[in-house]
Amino acid sequence: MIVLLFGPPGVGKGTQAELLIKKYQLTACSTGNILREEIARQSELGKTVRQYLEQGELVPDHHLFTLIERFIGTHRKNNMLFDGFPRNLNQATVFDTLLTKVDLKLDVALELHLSEDEIIKRLIHRRYCSTCGRTYNLLTSPPEKDDHCSNCGSSLTPRSDDTEAVIRRRMNVYVEETQPLIDYYKNKYIYHQVSAQGTQNEVFERITPIFNGHID
Ligand code: AP5
Repeated sequence: MIVLLFGPPGVGKGTQAELLIKKYQLTACSTGNILREEIARQSELGKTVRQYLEQGELVPDHHLFTLIERFIGTHRKNNMLFDGFPRNLNQATVFDTLLTKVDLKLDVALELHLSEDEIIKRLIHRRYCSTCGRTYNLLTSPPEKDDHCSNCGSSLTPRSDDTEAVIRRRMNVYVEETQPLIDYYKNKYIYHQVSAQGTQNEVFERITPIFNGHID
């Protein structure tokens, strides 16, 4: 099974990905996490892409294709979940080509949907551990100890792209670049939309019936 989660910034893709990985033993590719790791270790790629993430712009496609081709090559025998790739029509068509090359195809393209007000509330209250990558929410899933990661003890901070101005830019980029994927995947009969309103578990319960129909 190969599945894709997409949706606007802060809708809960990463949160649901974690739950889905555990339930279905999926091998996950989160391009946002991969790029943040590259930035944290100051690799050449990290230095190149940093400005794009900080400004809420998409990283140029060719950087993503190298990462994705390597990921598919390594994990082609596993059930895979993609979180945050593809994000535009060019990425979607290249993704199909890369999968076809190794006799695979995308089974589910699932869009999470939420009102803009709720998205901004979730992102303003998100806290992030730059050491282990765990995400919290001060309102709905706070750490055990104020401002410290419950997993590794490091200090928690807002993500650098979670300022109100950059959130607005990311939302516009989503509408302009990523929303056209809805029609692209509708035409392939693999598109599903799920409401991301409610608790993490309520959202998860809406997604699992869709995945159950595709698990090998
Ligand atoms: P990425 O990291 O993918 O960012 P994003 O798409 O903007 O999504 P987020 O990670 O902000 O949110 P999310 O939907 O995962 O929500 P989360 O689960 O954290 O990408 C970052 C950047 O990398 C891009 O802007 C771009 O520059 C670059 N990039 C990445 N992929 C690229 C690509 N393919 N091409 C080009 N550039 C690319 O939840 C948010 C908050 O809400 C958390 O605090 C969480 O605890 C809370 N929450 C979650 N679910 C619930 C719930 N049900 N109820 C209450 N709170 C909840």
